[in-house]
Amino acid sequence: MNHANVTTSASRKDDHVRLATEQADARQQPGDFDDVTFMHHALAAADFDSVTTETQIFDGSWGSPIYINAMTGGSASTGRINESLARVVAETGTAIASGSMSHLLKDEASASTFTSLRKLNPNGFVFANLSANATVAEARRVVDAVEANALQIHINSAQEIVMPEGDRSFGHWTENIAAIVTAVGVPVVVKEVGFGLSAETVAQLAALGVRYVDVSGRGGTNFAAIENARRDQNDYAALLSWGQSTANCLVDVAETAERESVTVLASGGVRGPLDVAKALSLGSVAVGVAGGFLHVLQREGEAALIAEIHRWNAQLRAIQALTGAARPSDLLRSDLLITGGVAEFARLRGIDITHYAQRGAHKRRSLHDG
Ligand code: FNR
Repeated sequence: MNHANVTTSASRKDDHVRLATEQADARQQPGDFDDVTFMHHALAAADFDSVTTETQIFDGSWGSPIYINAMTGGSASTGRINESLARVVAETGTAIASGSMSHLLKDEASASTFTSLRKLNPNGFVFANLSANATVAEARRVVDAVEANALQIHINSAQEIVMPEGDRSFGHWTENIAAIVTAVGVPVVVKEVGFGLSAETVAQLAALGVRYVDVSGRGGTNFAAIENARRDQNDYAALLSWGQSTANCLVDVAETAERESVTVLASGGVRGPLDVAKALSLGSVAVGVAGGFLHVLQREGEAALIAEIHRWNAQLRAIQALTGAARPSDLLRSDLLITGGVAEFARLRGIDITHYAQRGAHKRRSLHDG
């Protein structure tokens, strides 16, 4: 085992947490979800008691579609963050993804910085996480380590390009993904890390056998900025605006995902419960949050993050009630107005977005016709 590599990988994890926490808190920023609004129908509201956030996913169910997305593990301080997150999700019943577990493969002694996600959260839904450099044996090893219910494979070419010590070969990723999906024995979600998945990428992934994707678009944590801040030469500031926003991704992938029977999860710049509802209404079944929840944990502590997640779940339920969505999946029938940059993106991509604004039209017409 190369000691220098292990040290670099652990200190990189610390850098990511520090720089992500220093980044502006996405929860306070304007973003592309602002171009998406619900049409208000004043008689659409459902009785609160009939509304649930329970979500059918991975042949089971979660109490809420909101999950904590992949962040960390691998060093002593990030191990403490995972312990905190594990206590938070055990308390709130929230699904959680581990950060990349490649460090565990290099240094067995770091295992406990990841396995707390299962030990302190024995009944929770836990995703293991690796990059698309992983072999089938490595994927099985990390799934076993946290007794994972599913595995996330991250594809992060833009991050690696800006990362000073990043990978420079990507051609083997498709072959690795196809092998892992076939052999790992748990559902596999292929995710971006904040630059977004396109319709073309989702079609490619479907052809490899992938059934779940997390579009993880631009708008929140910016890994081009994080990796650029870790450079002492050859500034990559030009790539700071690389990628598609999460709202753009969801509009882009909707038709392909439906045609290919790919289930879509969303993350990237999700600022609050209204953005969660918008992401669900744009076609995702579950919505992940990373940087925003890290900000709360690092600045205000575990109790504050527990309260924040309870608040998001309660307000999601309230927004569902307001739109008459008894279940999160019923938000797919809400009328959505898409304007501004997201509408311009859709026009350039040849996507008709008028149908989003008229999804309840059939219901109203049939009522009228009597
Ligand atoms: C991440 N993210 C991430 N993703 C992944 O698949 N493996 C990983 O190891 C990490 N590491 C990581 C560290 C930190 C500190 C953050 C904040 C994020 C990316 C994350 O899962 C998500 O895709 C993006 O951060 C976009 O979501 P937010 O942060 O905008 O909510």
